[in-house]
Amino acid sequence: MSDSKDKKLLNDIDIKVKDHVDAVTSKGSDPAFFSCWDIHSYYGESYIVQGVSFDIREGEVVALLGRNGAGKTSTLRSIARLDNPQVTHGEIWLDHQPLHNMKAYDAAQSGVALVPEDRRIIQGLTVEENLQLAQIAPPMGWSIERIYEHFPRLAERRNQMGTTLSGGEQQMLAVARALARDIKLLLLDEPYEGLAPVIVQEIASIVDSIKKHGITTIIVEQNAVAALRLADRALILDMGNIVFDGTAEEVLNNEELRHEYLAI
Ligand SMILES: Nc1ncnc2c1ncn2[C@@H]1O[C@H](COP(=O)(O)OP(=O)(O)OP(=O)(O)O)[C@@H](O)[C@H]1O
Ligand SMILES: [Mg+2]
Repeated sequence: MSDSKDKKLLNDIDIKVKDHVDAVTSKGSDPAFFSCWDIHSYYGESYIVQGVSFDIREGEVVALLGRNGAGKTSTLRSIARLDNPQVTHGEIWLDHQPLHNMKAYDAAQSGVALVPEDRRIIQGLTVEENLQLAQIAPPMGWSIERIYEHFPRLAERRNQMGTTLSGGEQQMLAVARALARDIKLLLLDEPYEGLAPVIVQEIASIVDSIKKHGITTIIVEQNAVAALRLADRALILDMGNIVFDGTAEEVLNNEELRHEYLAI
């Protein structure tokens, strides 16, 4: 990376840290609904998430973008408090709760739902059983009837084994399973991965209806244009750092940024 880029990056980080400190310390202003501040995470010796900070307002949909290997999945996993990568520094707050002090189970109980890229549909269970299992313990989210209203394809296939669904239907089931719990932050890792354009449209309209229900969401996508159409805001990650934080429209209109970090 060139010197001038380094300087710009450091300057951007300084500004973000200052904004964060101002937000936290200024009298009368509420802290953001979700905020992560200066997160650093490692897979063993590999230093991957290198000081990520950002805030999200309640109900906002944020696209987290960046090239392959930029650290998007690692950032989501850090927020969800999975064991790997290990977060060694930083704070993560969701609705006044300190996620950085929690393990994955407690973070999930506090309202974080990660829908991973591989969807993790449970083998040997029907669609309905996959949903019921999500509701085995409180806090309960959408009822199964309500889920079927929003996901009619799942209603039609309620007695089918979850793992025999098509890729798009499995993605719907993975999202529905997250909504079956009372969640505050939905993390979607590449929900369009491997899906035909018509199915991408269908999933996009589901995410849009989730947005209308005011569920705060971070969507990671290689299909940046599709994610930006849904998102209010965009964050761009590069080499484990946030290099852009602005509106989705700003990214769509900035050819240089799109070329440099998104290859679109
Ligand atoms: N389990 C792991 N152990 C060691 N290194 C890992 C592990 N998982 C990911 N990495 C490394 O961390 C870096 C960031 O990976 P990550 O999966 O977060 O990127 P990403 O932005 O999600 O990429 P993609 O768009 O390909 O999904 C990469 O260099 C990757 O090789
Ligand atoms: Mg990834």
